[in-house]
Amino acid sequence: MDKIQLAMSAISPCDTSLLALGLAGVLVWLSGLAIYRLYFHPLAKFPGPKIAAVTLWYETYHDVWCRGKYVHRVKEMHEQYGPIVRINPHEIHIDDPDFYHEFYSSSKKLKKYPWYYKVSGVSDVSFGTEDHEAHRQRVSIYRNLFALRSIYAFEPNIKLYIKKLCRSFDDSLTTGAPLNVSHAFRCLTSDTITSYIGLGHGPLLEDADLGKSYRAYARIVTESSVLARHFPFVAYFQYLPSWLVTRLSSRFGILKAHLDRLTQQVNLACDGQIERDDTPHSTMISGIIGNEKHGTTARKAIIEEALILEGGGTDSTGQALEAATFYILNDPKVSSQLREELLQAIPDINNMPTLPKLRELKYLNAVINETLRISSPASSRFPRVNDSVPTVYKGWSVPVGTPISMNIWNTHYNQEIFPEPTQFRPERWLGANSRELEKYLVPFGSGSRMCIGQNLSIAEQVLTLATLFRAYDMSLFETTKNDVVMASSCMISLPGDESPGVRVSVQKALH
Ligand code: HEM
Repeated sequence: MDKIQLAMSAISPCDTSLLALGLAGVLVWLSGLAIYRLYFHPLAKFPGPKIAAVTLWYETYHDVWCRGKYVHRVKEMHEQYGPIVRINPHEIHIDDPDFYHEFYSSSKKLKKYPWYYKVSGVSDVSFGTEDHEAHRQRVSIYRNLFALRSIYAFEPNIKLYIKKLCRSFDDSLTTGAPLNVSHAFRCLTSDTITSYIGLGHGPLLEDADLGKSYRAYARIVTESSVLARHFPFVAYFQYLPSWLVTRLSSRFGILKAHLDRLTQQVNLACDGQIERDDTPHSTMISGIIGNEKHGTTARKAIIEEALILEGGGTDSTGQALEAATFYILNDPKVSSQLREELLQAIPDINNMPTLPKLRELKYLNAVINETLRISSPASSRFPRVNDSVPTVYKGWSVPVGTPISMNIWNTHYNQEIFPEPTQFRPERWLGANSRELEKYLVPFGSGSRMCIGQNLSIAEQVLTLATLFRAYDMSLFETTKNDVVMASSCMISLPGDESPGVRVSVQKALH
């Protein structure tokens, strides 16, 4: 008798009927739930695939198993069912650029949808705060820190980091080895935000290879955030000892190591043991310590705020810069027109104009707008909940308390507003209707929960692109559109897993 037969013989007929009863009970419960969700649920009348209305596992399959692909499935649903769709048992998604600002309006007291945002245990910080009022208090600390005048005061520091970045371009010119700008830009944006947080000069620009690890780390963070949404227990890895996490999963080991390093840095900064930068500026840490408006000044909250700012500030701007580099170099007309404008505006490369002056350059800014549109770094669907009144859209009334989401990527790829949306065309932003068009450019979101780092990000993009495309002659090295086009979306857009990033050959330094 083999082991299975032995085990079966150990189960008595009474056990078997109990098991059958249990299974039947589960089946009845599941069928009842499916029938309720399809026919009696408050969202039952909304269009959408039946399978998505019945079970959240449909989204789990596309986002976890297929790694961040639900965004594409949702787009297909809109093509089939129209602008309003029930995308899972509990949530409605709307695809209508004209409704974007109305829905995310600052005048509405919308809440964030906790299931969607509590992905990495960051509920006590600005990004994850669910309640409108609590968030308003918390984020008010940041208003001054990220206001335009603070960014202008920080400009010398950004220029300093760009100067360090240029060393990698100079090295590449000298050695003839191609430069991976996807890695190099992560070094720039990470070191910049590290300094802004108040953790002194970041280490990445000193060792461009670290950008490679950072990019790999960022991919793991974003993919794990989706995993943690569907399987919340994975977020608890952070409370385990590092050696155990690394044993269980090398990917989570990388996350844990990063978290431990940041925790150590924040603790040092809070205790005043980190040297200040060359140019004094306000920092997130100095703004938050002892500030009652935040609601919690516990170290854990400060660490989580730092984690969010570092994550939000590094990868998205790094992504915008790599996409801009690709699209500029991929089209000779674009690169020569940009070069012409920069040569005129910056006669002496050692004497860079100020940020406000560079903001006046029409073509450069059109390139940045078009990059933010076509790359849409924040391609997540950002759901909100209206707890006071139903949301009315084109004759549909979405019940109070229902999570509703819209997607920046859908808006930026709307064919009627942006004809041939997959084509990179800075001229879109130079026509007579460019002001009208800007209404539909929402890379940083809209309303009270929109990006707080917009001014910093734009400053980094303007200063970096102006410097690099004025200072060097470059061409793409073994890089195709696949290296910048969104293959999946996990909070932010990701290219295919196999993409090594955007690489350039540096041919000449221009004086
Ligand atoms: C191209 C670059 C960037 C893009 C496309 C981008 C996009 C966005 C978007 C769409 C949101 C809204 C998310 C939501 O509705 O839940 C957001 C929020 C946020 N972003 Fe950015 N961002 C960028 C750069 C930055 C930078 C440089 C920082 C750091 C200073 C930053 C920090 C944040 C934070 C802290 C939030 C949460 C705001 C809140 O809930 O109050 N972002 N970002």
